[in-house]
Amino acid sequence: MDLETYVRALPKAELHLHIEGTLEPEMMFALARRNGVALPWNSVEATRAAYAFTDLQSFLDLYYAGAAALIREQDFFELAIAYFERAHADGVVHAELFFDPQTHTARGVAFETVLDGLERACAEAQARWGISSRLILCFLRHLSEDEGFATLQQALPHLARIHGVGLDSSERGHPPGKFARLFARCRELGLHIVAHAGEEGPPAYIVDALDVLKVERIDHGVRCEADPALVERLAREQIALTVCPLSNVKLCVFPTLAQHNFKRLLDAGLKLTINSDDPAYFGGYVAQNYVDTAQALGLTRAELKRVARNSLEASFVPESLRAPWLMRLDALPD
Ligand code: ADE
Ligand code: ZN
Repeated sequence: MDLETYVRALPKAELHLHIEGTLEPEMMFALARRNGVALPWNSVEATRAAYAFTDLQSFLDLYYAGAAALIREQDFFELAIAYFERAHADGVVHAELFFDPQTHTARGVAFETVLDGLERACAEAQARWGISSRLILCFLRHLSEDEGFATLQQALPHLARIHGVGLDSSERGHPPGKFARLFARCRELGLHIVAHAGEEGPPAYIVDALDVLKVERIDHGVRCEADPALVERLAREQIALTVCPLSNVKLCVFPTLAQHNFKRLLDAGLKLTINSDDPAYFGGYVAQNYVDTAQALGLTRAELKRVARNSLEASFVPESLRAPWLMRLDALPD
């Protein structure tokens, strides 16, 4: 079996995927035309050519501009269905999708429009491909905690459809502690808790996410290496990190994939997973992230299997769902 076939055969969970980050330029233009929305680029090619990022913020500026094409419930449905189709081809059996309601409500799109479209796609993906999924609402950290509370207020009638909350957008200058009260309230509501930390920000933000927000997983977390005591803690407590290797290279967190610290952290005993983050912008969906990382860092099949196992173990599903996936995984050769 060649590497790509092997990777696709691994039952895996995708745990770090921004649904707005799956908006391919072709769909962006089709939706913009359908909705009468003006985009800052005049062609699909010009849009792709603009995807030369120097850091997280340079990406976010484009990502928020592109998201303006999404207006109607059907748009969110079509966006997510296109993702699930690709995820299914990549061997994803379970996906936990991030969505950024504030990006849409700020433009006058109702919270319910976003949620209804995504949820309808989740149901369709289960029916069509047997993929299970959950929705995780992300608060934008460049906005205030009060704005986060206003978003939580909008989410309250729909909590049965929202599995957890996360924290994303511009990391530098916006430490997790800024949202201590908001996340305490979310914990009281019984929501699962995750946060982006240590993508561009310092290891102290990872510590804050763990100790102040009380996250169950860290999104990215690769900058933990600057604090050896933290690396040791992450290994000891087996905190899952949702690493996104192609994203890290595109956003210049590492100069090349061969210089990524994924293999070092794996060797240090951390519970690492591989994910695609914003695949329409970063050049590859989840299987591509596995394959390219394996090739750049010389990961063995046993290591890839361990990473897929980590993703299933770190997912927010009951054991009854997880067990058959793990059995399928264990049946594969190393
Ligand atoms: N929003 C979408 N992708 C993101 C990332 N990689 N980091 C922070 N916020 C994001
Ligand atoms: Zn992310």
